[in-house]
Amino acid sequence: MFLSNVSLFDFRNYAELDLALERSATVLFGGNAQGKTNLLEAVALSALTRSPRTQQASELVRFGQPAARVTCQVQGDAGPTELEVRVSMTQLPETTRATKRFSVNGRARPSSDMLGTLRVVLFWPDDLQLIKGPGEGRRRFLNTLLSQLDRSHARELNRYQHLLEQRNALLRAVRDGRQPVGDLDYWTANLALAGAAIMVDRQRRLLEIQPVAAAFHRELTDDQERLDLRYRPAGARIGEAPIELVAQQLQAAMADSRDEEIARGQTAVGPQRDDVEVWLDDREARLYASQGQQRTAVLSLKLAELHYLAEATGEQPVLLLDDVMSELDPARRERLLAALEPGPQALITAADLDDLPKSIVDRAAVFRVEGGSVHA
Ligand SMILES: Nc1ncnc2c1ncn2[C@@H]1O[C@H](COP(=O)(O)OP(=O)(O)O)[C@@H](O)[C@H]1O
Ligand SMILES: [Mg+2]
Repeated sequence: MFLSNVSLFDFRNYAELDLALERSATVLFGGNAQGKTNLLEAVALSALTRSPRTQQASELVRFGQPAARVTCQVQGDAGPTELEVRVSMTQLPETTRATKRFSVNGRARPSSDMLGTLRVVLFWPDDLQLIKGPGEGRRRFLNTLLSQLDRSHARELNRYQHLLEQRNALLRAVRDGRQPVGDLDYWTANLALAGAAIMVDRQRRLLEIQPVAAAFHRELTDDQERLDLRYRPAGARIGEAPIELVAQQLQAAMADSRDEEIARGQTAVGPQRDDVEVWLDDREARLYASQGQQRTAVLSLKLAELHYLAEATGEQPVLLLDDVMSELDPARRERLLAALEPGPQALITAADLDDLPKSIVDRAAVFRVEGGSVHA
């Protein structure tokens, strides 16, 4: 599988772009605020159905324009596939809202049908947040990886989110005396089952990813440090099958915190509150890791993501490396370069060509990005 073409229309600072890509590496260089990250963001949006840097789809539409479009041509074993995302602005009386619509080969599709055609792994400057930041980043790491492996996981996540919103609305209605408390039972049972399915998936995948990440970490630290990933399902003692058992635990946890849930109008447990603890030797990295240790741990996690995706699917994902080479010390840089060697397709941005190893620049298609256009 590889990405053969990206075209943009009114996306961020691009009015129009049509860019053919090589199967190997593409280097995008240029000064600050020219559109390098925007281009990688557009590719990630098509692959993952959401931007890696904003929750607000309206930001993606070029200032003053009504809609944006991103189209990616993907060449796979079974032939070409066209993935398209359209973001349209809707003017409401109070605010402006943006709606995303997806299509595959020209036909409208639900977001989950977009996944798995173009698999990507991002190496992004704010990856460091994976270690030190809030649980949200680590949940997104899991969601991205699992959804790219399995569309049904993406569907489960969407379904869960929908049920969660319904149940939270009901909690507020109960709090305000608009609905009887007994109405909660049905939604609690359904939410617990949907949540348990996600937890069981997360636990299973993490058990498989853990040794891969640990092996990369041993290598990156010359056997000096042991990395461990510990899944912390919120409200269940375990995330292991059978699903019914996990669902029972979630249901019990919701029953225990019912008063608090009603008072806050929010569900207290479930996958939206899960976390994955990263441990280095016998300490939790979030609390104790130095800057250097964090960088190494992030690289271990990202290389594990890449390796695991490739192994599980039999296909190399496309790497999106945004401005990361210049931040790495020589040893970590070498390791990342080695990951590029077997030849996955890579889109690599840098402010300056000198920031990149000559070995990459020499074999890459090189483009300069300037004010929302891309020149050979
Ligand atoms: N919706 C938008 N419409 C027009 N320009 C935008 C939009 N969103 C961001 N930009 C512009 O894009 C530029 C940043 O692009 P970016 O790809 O992040 O730069 P870099 O080349 O440094 O990676 C900024 O000048 C910003 O104002
Ligand atoms: Mg940038």
